[in-house]
Amino acid sequence: MQLLATKIVKKMDLGSNGNLFGGELLAWVDEAVAAYAMLILQNREMVTLSIDSLKFEREVKEGALLQINAGLIKTGTTSATFEVVVNTYDVVDSSIERVFKTNMTFVRVINGKPHPIKKT
Ligand SMILES: CC(C)(COP(=O)(O)OP(=O)(O)OC[C@H]1O[C@@H](n2cnc3c(N)ncnc32)[C@H](O)[C@@H]1OP(=O)(O)O)[C@@H](O)C(=O)NCCC(=O)NCCS
Repeated sequence: MQLLATKIVKKMDLGSNGNLFGGELLAWVDEAVAAYAMLILQNREMVTLSIDSLKFEREVKEGALLQINAGLIKTGTTSATFEVVVNTYDVVDSSIERVFKTNMTFVRVINGKPHPIKKT
């Protein structure tokens, strides 16, 4: 599992109840893990195929530091699956609290069709 990105939650990222908007968080995660997939699989054509079920386990407030972590758990012919964990990180006491955990699968797509991935 590797730290891919750290985000600072800003006012503009909040939903109407004052917590981080879940869709915004998913967009950050999708971008970070897709870029990581391209890096380690050494191609530019990885697209998101699936995100397994996930539960937002806690509220995330303005000013929180969020860490997006992922690790490659499976490669197939055209797809790669990553375990993804998002947590808050408290810079004062270094404590970590999990926000969600899921698996994401990316497929190498060229001209709309799955294509063999280049393995590391
Ligand atoms: C990616 C796409 C071309 C794949 O076509 P498909 O017919 O669904 O998938 P296939 O049956 O050909 O399988 C392709 C790979 O995905 C895997 N796969 C298919 N469904 C899956 C699922 N629900 N979960 C995990 N892996 C899955 C298959 O095992 C296969 O992997 P492998 O070659 O490593 O064994 C097609 O689904 C697509 O274009 N999706 C949209 C992708 C996209 O635009 N994403 C951005 C967000 S909209």
